[in-house]
Parts: sequence; C-alpha cells; structure tokens
Amino acid sequence: MPAIELNINDRPVRADVEPRVHLGDFLRDAQHLTGTHLGCEHGVCGACTVLLDGEPIRSCITFAAACDRRQVRTIEGFDDDELMRRLRRSFSLHHGLQCGYCTPGMLITARDIVLRFPDADEARIRLELSGNLCRCTGYVGIVNAIKAVLQDLQAHPLALTPTMPAVSAAAGEAVLKRAEPFETFTAANASSFTPNAAPPMSAADSAAEDRPAAQRKGWTAIEDSFVVPFAPDRVWAFMGDLSSVAACLPGAQLSENDGDTVKGMIAVKFGPMSANFAGAARLERDESARRAVMRGAGQDNISRSRANGDVTYALTAEDQGRQTRVTVTLEYMLQGPLAQFSRSGLVKDFIRRMIADFGAHIAARLAGAEAPGPASVKFNAGGLVWRIIRDRVRRLFGKGE
Ligand code: FES
Ligand code: FES
Repeated sequence: MPAIELNINDRPVRADVEPRVHLGDFLRDAQHLTGTHLGCEHGVCGACTVLLDGEPIRSCITFAAACDRRQVRTIEGFDDDELMRRLRRSFSLHHGLQCGYCTPGMLITARDIVLRFPDADEARIRLELSGNLCRCTGYVGIVNAIKAVLQDLQAHPLALTPTMPAVSAAAGEAVLKRAEPFETFTAANASSFTPNAAPPMSAADSAAEDRPAAQRKGWTAIEDSFVVPFAPDRVWAFMGDLSSVAACLPGAQLSENDGDTVKGMIAVKFGPMSANFAGAARLERDESARRAVMRGAGQDNISRSRANGDVTYALTAEDQGRQTRVTVTLEYMLQGPLAQFSRSGLVKDFIRRMIADFGAHIAARLAGAEAPGPASVKFNAGGLVWRIIRDRVRRLFGKGE
C-alpha cells in the first residue's frame, strides 16, 4: 500500500492509502474530517468540494494517492479565514441552508466565486454555483448570501494578514483588483463569435502573452511535449496551417476555415461529463521562433458551460535536426457547471493524454495518413479513463508505461 505525505488544514499528515481510495473517503474515514460530505460520488453534486493547492476540486473524483505532497483544505480548515467567516455569517442571516448537507461544498465554492469574481451579479453567481446542487433551499438564500458578501467587500475589503492562511496572495488580489474580463459566448452571437482580440505575436510582446496561467485568474495550464520523426521545417510547415492542426486535435470538427481563423466544435466526454463546445479559434504565429498560439473560445449549449483555451506549441530540433520536439502548453478556463471538473488530477491526466494523441495524429498525418474523422477521435471515456487509471496505478507502484 503506497504511503503519501500531504498537508491537511495546515497539519502534516503521513498515511498509507489504497490506490483506489478517493480523497473524500480518506478525509472522512481516515482523518475523521466529516465536514466534507459525499452525495453522488461521481463528480456531479459538489457536496464533497475541498481546496487542493488553493483550488476547489471534487474530492470524490480525486484519488487520495494523487494528493501526495499537496495542500488540502477542508471546511474544518477555515477557522482563521476572514472571508469564510463572512460567508458563514451571511449564509446564516440569509437562510442559505436548511438541512446543511450541501453547505460545506457550497461555502467553499462560494468563497472561490467571491475571490475570482468580485463584481459578480446574480446571473454570474448562479452560473458559477451551478456545479453545486442543493435539495432544500431553492438557492435564493444562498445567492443572496453571496451577493451580500460581495457588497460588503466593496465597503470593507479583506485585510490580507498572516492569520488568514487559506487566502493565497494571488487569490487575495482578486478581491482587491477586478477579475480579468472573460469574453462571453452566447447562442445569440454564436455565428459571429471570434475569440478575444489580441495583439499579433512578436518577439517583443510574446513575453506578455506567455504569462503563466497562474497569473490569469481561473486559468489552468498543462504543459507536455511529444517528438515526431520529421525535420522541424517540415513539421512547422504542417503546423503553420490552422486547419491541419485543428484536424489533429482529438474531438475537433471544423465547419468553417478562413485562413488563420476557424469555426467548429470540439467534443469531450469524460465520465459523467459530456460536452460539445461550439466556437472559433485563431492562430498567431512567430515564424522565427517556430512558435504559435491557437486561441479559441466556445460554449456548450447543453450545460451552458463556456470555455476559453490557448494551445501554444513550440518546435525545437532534436537528433541533429532529424526529429522535432513539439512542446504543447494547453491553458484553459471553464465556466459554468463543468468548471469544477477542470481542476481534478484525472482531468489533467486526461488532457495530457489528449496532447499525446494530438502528437500521434500529427506524426501520422506527416507520414501520409488521412486525417482522423471526428467520430474516431472523439474521446472514448470508458477506454481513456481506464487507461488513465491504469497509468496512475502503475505510477504509484513505480512501474512506468
Ligand atoms: S459527492 Fe457529489 S460531486 Fe463529489
Ligand atoms: S441545504 Fe439541504 S441540500 Fe442544501
């Protein structure tokens, strides 16, 4: 049984865990932190929400073993947190709870909303809260409680002090500064939608565009790389064409192609999550650095979740120019009911697998194969999730792929 070391509510913990034990069970059964509630146990209701390295995640779909060397904060760990104190008082004043079953997860999500969206209106609060289900209140009291805290923060900003360890400096800034605007994508503007206008990439300004996702509020970044057995010139010629690149992205299907701008759809299916994001993407290239960024945005009309994503790829020669390493950074932000899925370790593994499949498709295309059809690259949740879980178990026991 592998041993893990983690920090829970500022307390170092060392424990042996079965690989299949999820964080929610570990917290409740092994650590006796029963404030974390379990409802659906497959990532839908949000009752099990805790912070992992400062970000809300669903503990029922996060393996405890995946939290090795990470910081976990449960609802019991906010005693010194001024923002949580205000939220608790407000939930009580505005009747934001009845049975209380959803309340720990609701409070942790509410705190995240307040930190990320200091100007949130009721529609924004409801959208961000839609990944947390409550069976009792009808949500009116919960939404009013959050609105009241946001109003109170305008008049009485948080003092960031060492006695508030759960509020990171980065998160605290979100309360003090306005959150970055997120360009919304609605059914009404879907046909004319184009991604955020951004200055064309140049050597001088690429550093600004390179801001790590940690500096973009609510964004998550994953970097990985793959090697294709072709010279950089050839790979760059292929990857300089947006339609070729988009055709290699698992699940992507193009409907329009206008040079450096495309419109289309990307299908994602992962366990209980299934979405078809319709939107647009634009390619910005830095020819001399052989680096490009594909900026996209879209909306899933079923869940009404929105996604913004930048896929950056940079080419470097290897093996004396006989092969090329492609470093891919995927930065993304999900909003709406699917948002909390975006941060779990399994989803990050899933995206790494997506990047590996992207590389395999590019290598196949360069070798002369036909572009895979959308049906064949749409994620097979069962098979893919199984592969991810298998790889994780192997890693836990020290066996590589
Ligand atoms: S218990 Fe429902 S999302 Fe985890
Ligand atoms: S207060 Fe009962 S489920 Fe939300």
